[in-house]
Amino acid sequence: MGRLTVLIAAVVMNMIVIERVIASEENTSSTTQKADKDMIEKGAYLAKMGDCVACHTISDGQEFGGGLAFITPFGTMYSTNISSDKDHGIGHYSYEDFYAALHDGIAPKGNLYPAMPYTSYRLLTDDDTRALYAFFMNTKPVQQKNKDNDVGFPFNIRMGLKGWNLLNLESGIFQPVPDKSEAWNKGNYIVNALGHCGECHTPRGTLFAMDESKQFEGAMIEGYEASNITPTELNRQAWTAMDLEQLLRTGYSRKGTVFGGMYPVVYHSLSHLTAEDMAAVTTYLLDTDSAVNEVVEPAALTFNGHDEAAPGYGLYNAYCAGCHGVDGEGKPNISPAMAGNSTLDQAEPINTVAVLLNGVGDQRYSQTQSFYAMPGYRNEMDKQQLTDLINYLQKTWTTQKGELTQEKINMIISKVEDSLPDAAH
Ligand code: HEC
Ligand code: HEC
Ligand code: HEC
Repeated sequence: MGRLTVLIAAVVMNMIVIERVIASEENTSSTTQKADKDMIEKGAYLAKMGDCVACHTISDGQEFGGGLAFITPFGTMYSTNISSDKDHGIGHYSYEDFYAALHDGIAPKGNLYPAMPYTSYRLLTDDDTRALYAFFMNTKPVQQKNKDNDVGFPFNIRMGLKGWNLLNLESGIFQPVPDKSEAWNKGNYIVNALGHCGECHTPRGTLFAMDESKQFEGAMIEGYEASNITPTELNRQAWTAMDLEQLLRTGYSRKGTVFGGMYPVVYHSLSHLTAEDMAAVTTYLLDTDSAVNEVVEPAALTFNGHDEAAPGYGLYNAYCAGCHGVDGEGKPNISPAMAGNSTLDQAEPINTVAVLLNGVGDQRYSQTQSFYAMPGYRNEMDKQQLTDLINYLQKTWTTQKGELTQEKINMIISKVEDSLPDAAH
């Protein structure tokens, strides 16, 4: 073989090698792109599960642009821009910054106010935090400046929050409970980490931290009670997994509708869960480990018959029966049933009082389904009538006794009024 041939052969070989290298580089870069894309998609789903959009977007505002006001006992604060914009959003965050903000409430600018539910998000696994990071670094940048908070001394000093964190943050990423099923454990993780259900449903103790000894026993939030959703209470009310799934996915079920602070949770977050994740949530909430796919015969909805002599009977027929039905059977697409309604069946009927005073706005549940609005009766009924009516509702359609005193109803009215956002702050 002459030198030239060798040279040509070498060049050809080189070209082949180079081509192979390019081809395999293209291969790896398309697999990393695919992996990135999967990660971003997973993060988008997790962001829905965590309901980030509900707090970080104002109505008619750009997604994740922030600016939603939070009225707290310390003053008003605003959610921040968490779009990928490098100047106004979190596009400059490293993964470590993002992790610290979600898990420890520590942003590059300092400690975050606990209106950001990092006390729940801290249970997130590292994998899920990474997926969320991948998603948030790829959102549409929103060029919108953050609003200044209007909180009083000493809470305007972010350093003060360090002390709060030391006292109130329990450490630790989610740990499965060994003697529970996979579905239950998954539900536990979804509900308590990203779902942050306890931030509304668990009463707060000293220093506004969730009181874990009373997990899910109910707490007031903006004029309603985020009701008791312990397994004991949900099972007492004869919720089946199917009822719960329907309520959490669509906003209504044969046991009533969601309203108040629960409506956006369903709309932005729970309605997007996969069937498997939803089954995990209901398994956990009802603590029915074995019965995920078992069809449970739903209990008949309570209807104890009318007591026509009771003072509430006339009120119900005059004001309510037109929408809710003479026998409380409800009307499809117009109004929920009173028979078996979980709101009516609260021992302390806080949400019944709230709804009767203030009504419920027009709520859309899906593209096709929406209910009418319900008017408030604040100016139409006096407190005695309200008491008579509520006792009648309880006696006729629930397992409660319906023997509430007017004094008790007055106490509930104050509870509702005191927790309205524009009350006395
Ligand atoms: C219940 C309301 C609420 C929800 C839900 C919520 N946030 Fe927040 N978040 C806030 C508020 C309010 C602030 C501003 C706190 C402050 O300024 O101290 C904030 C701040 C942040 C910050 C700090 C940004 C900065 O300015 O440096 C990040 C990051 C963040 N949130 C990410 C998220 C992500 C990701 C999710 C969803 C997994 C989420 N948030 C869900 C209320 C919420
Ligand atoms: C114009 C029709 C209309 C009238 C009149 C009306 N309601 Fe309603 N009511 C509704 C609708 C619609 C909802 C559900 C709203 C939603 O969640 O979107 C509702 C919700 C409720 C709820 C909350 C339970 C749930 O599952 O949503 C209670 C309790 C209730 N109504 C009781 C009454 C009583 C008692 C009266 C009479 C004083 C009355 N309503 C009059 C339409 C009406
Ligand atoms: C922003 C506050 C808030 C958050 C977060 C929240 N809820 Fe609620 N929830 C409420 C309020 C207020 C009610 C009462 C009004 C109603 O019945 O819709 C409620 C009612 C409910 C009910 C109906 C109970 C009944 O007896 O009718 C269920 C079930 C429920 N929530 C489950 C959840 C789950 C699961 C999560 C977490 C994924 C969650 N909630 C997160 C505020 C919240």
